Amino acid sequence: MVTCYDYTFARLLSKSAIDGILVGDSAAMVMHGHSSTLSASLELMRAHTEAVARGAPEKLVIADMPFLSSRKGLAAALDTAAVLMTAGAHALKLEGVDGHEDVIRAMAQSGIPVMGHLGMQPQSVHVYGGFRVQGRSSESAQNIARQASALEQLGVFAIVLECVPSGLAREISAGLRIPTIGIGAGAGCHGQILVLQDLLGMNTDFRPKFVRPFLDGARWILGSLADFDEAVKAGTFPAEEESYS
Ligand code: KIV
Repeated sequence: MVTCYDYTFARLLSKSAIDGILVGDSAAMVMHGHSSTLSASLELMRAHTEAVARGAPEKLVIADMPFLSSRKGLAAALDTAAVLMTAGAHALKLEGVDGHEDVIRAMAQSGIPVMGHLGMQPQSVHVYGGFRVQGRSSESAQNIARQASALEQLGVFAIVLECVPSGLAREISAGLRIPTIGIGAGAGCHGQILVLQDLLGMNTDFRPKFVRPFLDGARWILGSLADFDEAVKAGTFPAEEESYS
């Protein structure tokens, strides 16, 4: 899986073999320059979900429930879910489990495929004091494993495991009947997800350990911009064939 937030990349992804697209609340950081995912409002998530669903209608499109949207009671959570599902999402992802079990169960029983998200939950960044690996102590590892079983019991169809030791992710994955999708969780998960812009090497300022850029995207893009700039200033663009008579 990869994340995607816009129509143009969704069109490209629809021509790829990638199995699923996450319209992540990381849109707040990657597309809008915020320092965390807390700024991803429902309106913002709706707009990005619509664009992606238009671009890749045949792919599985999963949208993130915004910060606190599953914590304001069942009716509010279902209202949020309705907005994102009618925007074109086929499934919704939410972080954690403790304290909103009723919401997860009700969503799963209401025709909404629900994906869980455990380990480092970006919406809890201020509890961690930064984006930190979780599950390193045995107490924290047991807690994550317990939450994974709880999510499975509540009816989620898959779980993202983010930034946990690979041994823990492997153990959790082996003990579940539903698939795990890892990001910074090693090779023992059933699938993997990366932020598309990280995968394409478009971010030169920030590269977490778990990211492998499969393209030197920043260099290619900057090279193309330099070529365009040079051609315009040299008077070689636009050429005759790129102009109307
Ligand atoms: O919002 C996001 O991009 C995510 C991925 C990191 C899984 O939740």
